[in-house]
Amino acid sequence: MLHRTAPTGKLLRQEDRNGVKGLILAGGTGSRLRPLTYTGAKQLIPVANRPILFYAVEALRDAGITDIGIVVGETGREVEEALGDGSGFGCEFTFIPQFAPLGLADAVKTAARFLGETPFCMFLGDNLLRGGLRSLVDRFRSGDFAASILLTEVPNPEQFGVAVVDGERVLNLVEKPSVPPSNLALVGAYCFSAAIHPAIARLTPSRRGEYEITDAIQNLIDQGLPVDAARVSGWWKDTGRPEDVLDANRLILEDLKGRLDGAVEEESVVTGRVEVRAGAVIRKSVIRGPVTIGEDAWIEESYVGPYTAIGPRVKILRTEIENSVVLADSRISDVPGRIDASLIGRAVTVQGQSARPRALRLVLGDQSRADLIL
Ligand code: TTP
Repeated sequence: MLHRTAPTGKLLRQEDRNGVKGLILAGGTGSRLRPLTYTGAKQLIPVANRPILFYAVEALRDAGITDIGIVVGETGREVEEALGDGSGFGCEFTFIPQFAPLGLADAVKTAARFLGETPFCMFLGDNLLRGGLRSLVDRFRSGDFAASILLTEVPNPEQFGVAVVDGERVLNLVEKPSVPPSNLALVGAYCFSAAIHPAIARLTPSRRGEYEITDAIQNLIDQGLPVDAARVSGWWKDTGRPEDVLDANRLILEDLKGRLDGAVEEESVVTGRVEVRAGAVIRKSVIRGPVTIGEDAWIEESYVGPYTAIGPRVKILRTEIENSVVLADSRISDVPGRIDASLIGRAVTVQGQSARPRALRLVLGDQSRADLIL
């Protein structure tokens, strides 16, 4: 049992330090990524041709955590199919359905049986951390904290949960403050001792109707329990909005290693770091890396420029594209001008024509967006 007056020496037992579990949140609504999230989980949107969620699993695994609970919502079946039982990652997964996306603290509550009294590292399944989770988890393991949270300086703290710190100790947290007390935002990675569970049990819904994890952490602080502040090393990216997915794609492609498993035919020019996966064909085209081209894609008489990820089985014909993400099975042909900074979903057709009269003919799904810069 924890008490206000017992801030140190009682939060983590030795066996707990070793046995930290993982919790990845892969439910939620994904409303800001519609229409892509009408037909799929946002955590499975690929960046550099791999689902965002895979990077989250690897971040935990590389921090030495292999017993991982995955909280899922309506898209649970699809998430489960993509991840498997964990053996492919060297992990063991337990899928935990959340009845409704009632907030990050509610997700922890939903996972209570899986977590038991074991300390755990929670990571948001739509977040990417270049520096990984190891230093956060190691700090948490070696200290005696009720929680270790990860912070980074941001230019727009009013849009985040913001921390006031004294050195490495968190003094106070404020959710989306209109007058931010600091520029240190909470990012989507947290380590908790079992002290978080009673703090969550005390919560009431916030103004936006969710059970907020920041309120639960504030509750730990109010009890006098030590909450430790770690800093992000490298970049951090939350992929909540389409432009974030493009940014994340760019950042991951920065580290791409070139690799040619597909066919680059004569009359094609491939420069920079380019990954061409098995079965893909590049015909009479220019590819300027960093670029990844998925399995069985077909690129013909086209230009694919830097920071582009072309998904499996995509066809690009007589078109220029750069700085974009194209998901599996789409077909893009004869587009006048260059496609730039675009996020194109699965099995989409974009087709240009040089007939007269000139016109735009659009069949766009609900909440699609087309920016016509002519
Ligand atoms: P958010 O991006 O904050 O929420 P969301 O997925 O509902 O997106 P939007 O605001 O665009 O509607 O969620 C962060 C991560 O946590 C994400 O991977 C989804 C997950 N999550 C849950 O698993 N359960 C929840 O109750 C909530 C709110 C989020």
